[in-house]
Order: sequence, then C-alpha cells, then structure tokens
Amino acid sequence: MRIVLLGAPGAGKGTQCKYIIERYGLQHLSSGDILRANRAKGTELGKKAQSYMDSGGLVPDEVIIDMMIDEIGKAPASGYVLDGFPRTVNQAQGLDKALAAKGRKIDAILNLMVDEDVVVRRITGRRICPKCGAVYHVENIKPAVEGKCDKDSSELIQRPDDTEEVVITRLKNYNEQTAPVIDYYKDGNTVYDVNADEQAEEVRDKMFGVLDLLS
Ligand code: AP5
Repeated sequence: MRIVLLGAPGAGKGTQCKYIIERYGLQHLSSGDILRANRAKGTELGKKAQSYMDSGGLVPDEVIIDMMIDEIGKAPASGYVLDGFPRTVNQAQGLDKALAAKGRKIDAILNLMVDEDVVVRRITGRRICPKCGAVYHVENIKPAVEGKCDKDSSELIQRPDDTEEVVITRLKNYNEQTAPVIDYYKDGNTVYDVNADEQAEEVRDKMFGVLDLLS
C-alpha cells in the first residue's frame, strides 16, 4: 500500500502514522523527521533546511522532491505512508510523475481534518523525546512521569518551531500551499476525509476502517 496522510500542522499525522505502520507493516516516511535527522547530523541538506523550518516556511520543492523520491526508492515492498509530503501541488505532481515512471500510483489519500484553534493547542503543548522521537502532549497524551519519555526516560523537549508565533506562519503556509493539494488529489482519486478532532484512538479506528477495505 502507498498512502498519503494529509492534514494541517498538528492534525495528528505523526501520531496516526505510528498506528498505521504497526498494523499494516508499512514504512513511515515523514519529510519533517527526515529533515530533522539531517539537521541533527549537520548534513548539507539539514543546513539548507534549517532557516526555512525554524521560521515555519517551506523548504524549496526541488530539495524536498529529490529527498523524498530517494527515500521512497528505499522503502520495502510492503509499501509506505507519506507524512508531510507532498505539501505543494508541485510536489504532488513530482511524486505522481516519479511513481508513474515505475507504473505505480498512490492507493489511498487520507485527510485529517481539525479546527485551527485545536491545532494551536496541540502544537504548543507537544513535547518530544530527542532520543527516540516519541511524541507526547502536556495535557492530551501525557508520559507516565512528567517531562520524561516512557521508553527511555530522556528529558522531553519542545520543537523549536512549536511556538505560537511560528505555528501561525505554518498554518498560513498550510492554507495557501498545502490545502490545494487536497483538490489536486480529488481530481482523479478518492480522498478520505477523517475528522481528527477526537481522541487519538477514535481517529485511529476510523482510519483503520478505511484502510482495512483497501488492504
Ligand atoms: P513536519 O514535521 O512535517 O510538521 P507538520 O506538518 O507541521 O506536522 P507536525 O509534525 O507539526 O504535526 P502532526 O500532524 O504530525 O501532529 P502530531 O501527531 O505530532 O514539518 C516541519 C517543517 O519541515 C515544516 O514547517 C517545513 O519547514 C519542513 N517541511 C517538512 N515537509 C516539507 C515539505 N514536504 N515541503 C517543504 N517543507 C517541508 O500531533 C501534534 C500534537 O498533538 C502532539 O503533541 C500529539 O501528542 C497531540 N495529538 C495528536 N493527535 C491527538 C488527538 N487526536 N487528540 C489530542 N491530542 C493529539
């Protein structure tokens, strides 16, 4: 299965991807995670992406398309779920073109829908483990011990782009550049809209309902 998970910043894409990869044995390909890993390693790609990410802007299409097509090429035969990519119509066209060259296409597009005020609360309350990448929330998805990762006890941190100020820019970019990707996909594909303004497990079960029919 080749799945695209769409949704505003903080809609819960990363959280839901964890459930999807466990159940269907797919690879999780998060453009944000790949960029953050490059930053942590100090690669040229990471250095190039840094200023865009910190200000809430989008990394240029040509950089992202090459990076993600490369990752897709390394994914296992069972398939993958794309999280955070494509994020512009240009990226979606680049993806379709690369897949078509191999006789492939995206099988399912899931669109997580959530109100902007919910998104702001989710993002500003998000805490992550710098070691294993586990994601928590100060109110909604708490670790067993406050401020510590359940898996490896590391001190949880806040992403530098998770401030209210940067979130506003990220949302603006989402509305202007990523929302049109939904219309792009609606022309010729089935886009499954999922209400993501519920408990994470309820959102998960709705997505499983769609994906079980396709798998
Ligand atoms: P990226 O890392 O992709 O960030 P994003 O799309 O803004 O998405 P987030 O990771 O913020 O949110 P999410 O939807 O995964 O939510 P999560 O599950 O964590 O991108 C970062 C930056 O990289 C971009 O700004 C850009 O600069 C660059 N970039 C990346 N891809 C790019 C591309 N294709 N093109 C150009 N530039 C690109 O959940 C959020 C919080 O809510 C968590 O705390 C979680 O615990 C909590 N939560 C989740 N679900 C629920 C629920 N149902 N109820 C209550 N709380 C919940």
